[in-house]
Amino acid sequence: MKINNTNINIKNLDEEVVLYGWVNKKRDLGSLIFIDLRDRSGIIQLVFNEKLYDKASSLKNESVIKVKGKVLKRETANPNLQTGEIEIEVSELEVLNESKDLPFDLNNTTALEDTRLKYRYLDLRKENLKNNLMTKHKIMQSTRAYLNENDFLEIETPILCKSTPEGARDYLVPSRVNKGSFYALPQSPQLFKQLLMMSGLERYYQIARCFRDEDLRADRQPEFTQIDLEMSFVNEEDVMNLTEGLISKIFKDVKGIELTRPFPRMTYRKAMDMYGSDKPDTRFDMPIMNITDAFLNTDFSVFKSVIEANGIINCLVVKNAADAYSRKDIDKLQEFVKIYKANALAFLKYDEEITGSIAKFITEEIKEKLEMILSLEKNDLILIVAGEEKIVKDSLGALRLKLGRDLNLIDANKFNLLWVTDFPMFEYSEEAGRYIACHHPFTHPQDVNSLNDKKNALARAYDIVLNGYEIGGGSIRIHKPEVQEKVLEALGFSLEDANKQFGFLLNALTFGAPPHGGLALGLERLTMLLCGTENIRDVIAFPKTTSASCLMSEAPNKVSEKQLDELNIKLK
Ligand code: AMO
Repeated sequence: MKINNTNINIKNLDEEVVLYGWVNKKRDLGSLIFIDLRDRSGIIQLVFNEKLYDKASSLKNESVIKVKGKVLKRETANPNLQTGEIEIEVSELEVLNESKDLPFDLNNTTALEDTRLKYRYLDLRKENLKNNLMTKHKIMQSTRAYLNENDFLEIETPILCKSTPEGARDYLVPSRVNKGSFYALPQSPQLFKQLLMMSGLERYYQIARCFRDEDLRADRQPEFTQIDLEMSFVNEEDVMNLTEGLISKIFKDVKGIELTRPFPRMTYRKAMDMYGSDKPDTRFDMPIMNITDAFLNTDFSVFKSVIEANGIINCLVVKNAADAYSRKDIDKLQEFVKIYKANALAFLKYDEEITGSIAKFITEEIKEKLEMILSLEKNDLILIVAGEEKIVKDSLGALRLKLGRDLNLIDANKFNLLWVTDFPMFEYSEEAGRYIACHHPFTHPQDVNSLNDKKNALARAYDIVLNGYEIGGGSIRIHKPEVQEKVLEALGFSLEDANKQFGFLLNALTFGAPPHGGLALGLERLTMLLCGTENIRDVIAFPKTTSASCLMSEAPNKVSEKQLDELNIKLK
């Protein structure tokens, strides 16, 4: 059996060892050659003297070798290396496989991402990506240990499923045996885990692959993994408690960090109001402030018409920043908020005298009100958006995050966990032209009698947020068929449609379904944050590009006529 490089240390002095690994780096000193031998565990220094000089000097980087040699103490130790006190004086060298010249330099971080993705197996040899995969492994191990201890059963659910509406677009798989019919890959095991509760299994978990055909972003992949769990006879508190225990164990095991519990909580309404986001980054302050009241009697026609149209006037106060922002800088911020459909970004600079784009409309009365609402201090910069509530909150929420980054207000060493609770039951979808489920259609309403008030009905749903990322979400589910039918009806399903789509669930609810609820954590998002990267690809062994393709294997690809024929498929 191979031993790890890093298992060898000063205690093995003068012993004879056999090591395997990759040529990481060579230093040729004429008659002597040093090679950094790398294996998964790390690096150890090899020394080749005159006898093996020629063979060692012809080795290309990344070739695989086997060496036999004696453990010696180094003249000058390298404190940055775990094996830095020793080196191996090689007596036998066997080249197990010579590497060709590499398509990119593994030590150069500026190599194009496309090239690195094409040769992903080489990129994964790098320390940082290897460490990320190790962290992900540890997270999965901690998860299993914690959930096993808490009486959960790890149960697999199907990958070939039934396509159901709602949620993201499905990935479809044509059936050969049932011509013209399709399976869908699961967007999550949601219905199956609920059915397992109806089967009496009480506590389920799965580290589950999920597939969603949606627009990709830095924190989104078409296939990803959830730490998925479901419990019977529970309420919100039980699920949140259990999840806090799980996340705390992961932080302790992986980072050695003790989290403070309970995690803070905020309602969805408050999060949207203060941060313009349902996943606020609470590592820095700068809440969105409502200053509509200050302008109730204004002569400024733009603000006046906003108020008349039931709109709002909100702002951010950037402390002690007025002198740092030129007109040009603020113009750039204005361009930024326009991405979020804001018409304009007004600004005020607070000093003895107020200056700024709308200074001439700031009467003594408005000034006093602003001072009172915003607790202003000299040199504060006030950035204002007026308009329809959603646009105002979206644009200021995004601007807040941009300013947080631009002004270095975010402490990268902080881990701020936050529960966002009391989500709406429904949200209006412009695309669908109707209300859809905010979480999913199986979420229990807070008040069964409020379902007709679609705008205000609340759900028993919660998300867990870490540093501005939604790392998980869940809910208490409906366990009574009549409630499920009501919710599906509110979502616009006819009884017939509902039965066609979810008949098996509706049926199962009629045979003694226990109250139940659960949650799923996004494994990659959690790993990303624990690894300190903002790119989800950094924590997936073989990720996809933003156009959902794998540059290495070249998936997706065209298939043969014969394959299509068997599936009874003709391409348009
Ligand atoms: P939800 O859709 O909120 O809930 O997903 C749970 C968590 O999965 C992560 N996630 C993703 N990660 C990477 N790429 C994606 N495309 C992606 N989509 C989601 C997020 C998210 O919080 N069945 C419910 C859970 C439940 O109710 O128990 C569900 O899937 O971190």
